[in-house]
Amino acid sequence: MARAEKFECPSFPWPGGKDSLAGHILEHVPPKGCTFFDLCAGRGNITWHAIHSGLEYEQWVVNDILTGPFFRAIRDFGNKFQATEKTLDEYKRCAELAKDGDPYALLMEPHLCFNGGTFGANGMRGDGGGRRTAESHTKNVHLACQYLREKKVRITNLDWRDCLEAERSGPNDIVVIDWPYLDCNVGAYSPESICPTEGIEYLQKASFPWVFCEYYQPLFVAAFGAPVFKQVVQLRSCDVNKVREARTECIWTNIGKTRPTVTVTLHEPVPEDRTQIYYTHLSESELLEEIKKCIGSVNFSRNQMQREMRERLLPALLELKKRTYRKTPGFYETLAKIGLNADTVRQWFYRSNTADEVIDLFEEENQPSVKQRGGRDSVDTEALLLEHADRMAKAVLTDKFANAKKLATQYVEARKESRV
Ligand SMILES: C[S@@+](CC[C@H](N)C(=O)[O-])C[C@H]1O[C@@H](n2cnc3c(N)ncnc32)[C@H](O)[C@@H]1O
Repeated sequence: MARAEKFECPSFPWPGGKDSLAGHILEHVPPKGCTFFDLCAGRGNITWHAIHSGLEYEQWVVNDILTGPFFRAIRDFGNKFQATEKTLDEYKRCAELAKDGDPYALLMEPHLCFNGGTFGANGMRGDGGGRRTAESHTKNVHLACQYLREKKVRITNLDWRDCLEAERSGPNDIVVIDWPYLDCNVGAYSPESICPTEGIEYLQKASFPWVFCEYYQPLFVAAFGAPVFKQVVQLRSCDVNKVREARTECIWTNIGKTRPTVTVTLHEPVPEDRTQIYYTHLSESELLEEIKKCIGSVNFSRNQMQREMRERLLPALLELKKRTYRKTPGFYETLAKIGLNADTVRQWFYRSNTADEVIDLFEEENQPSVKQRGGRDSVDTEALLLEHADRMAKAVLTDKFANAKKLATQYVEARKESRV
């Protein structure tokens, strides 16, 4: 605790970084225990706060599929690091050096890149929160180095589930989970790198205590109940309109909750008679019942697919790769015999047009078309078209291509009509 009075807590910017939420997260963490896991550690902001606030854990683990090299650079070189001021030349130099894992460049990354992200995805930091001086960044790195060394923090870069299974976390550990938020495409990492329904199923059955944060989402409320903490935050948006959307940060935990009994649902094939006409005869409550059944089946199937890949396909492929190494026929030729190649695998993950239409249905309400907004005179048309183009750009930048395509069609039609 003496340390908390003496120094500021280290922190590093990162897209989705939890420097400001860490205090609330840690309120739900027991003060002592065996191992503290920061499962998707990003730039380690939750761990820095946990160590800084004096939590007494025997072991510490920071895990992240992406940022392991950053933590190793802090641990192995952080004490000697001196940051330089932000310049475009230094940015370009470090971006090149980082490709070869240069520790100085890795340590400069949060200082130089937009939102503390990565050279590859986030670009040079302009005024994107970059008010820190080189001196203050240096201090943060030195202190973080001291924390990692003193606590002998283990650094791993495993997928979240592989990490938990390798470490065999138990009832005296704590697992803090801050994985990529649903639908938030922040550049440095993708929301697609986790399967939320798999995570939910895993956490529901977990025998270790966990604390989990995400935005308020019905999916998580249905799975974990009411959050133990809620706070409305303004998004740091890269929206071309500079609209700052509000979201609700939430925290859930299984601590103090009895484990729910797992209900096994039987999943039947889709009945033959389901056509659009079938649904015109259903009442509203019957429609909702039907939608609920579909959600259950979709989640079940998605988890089933995830299990097939994680527990069967991936280990079997790894073993085959090992056995066919430098042999003839090799790995690819052997797989080709059963018709498996990269294209086959890729097409399993193509989002069907139906999936895009379903997603579109949820987005339509927030995004009126140019035409729907009639009634203004032609002086406004140009402004409306510009607004529409902004929404289109946002859809492209957030990978919502079906929606972007629809907006583009509306845009072209509206341009023809208005002849602006
Ligand atoms: C919201 S950020 C974590 C921010 C962190 N708590 C902080 O304050 O700096 C989510 C992190 O999850 C990591 N991640 C994404 N998919 C993962 C996976 N399958 N397993 C482990 N980590 C993952 C990303 O690299 C990213 O750093």
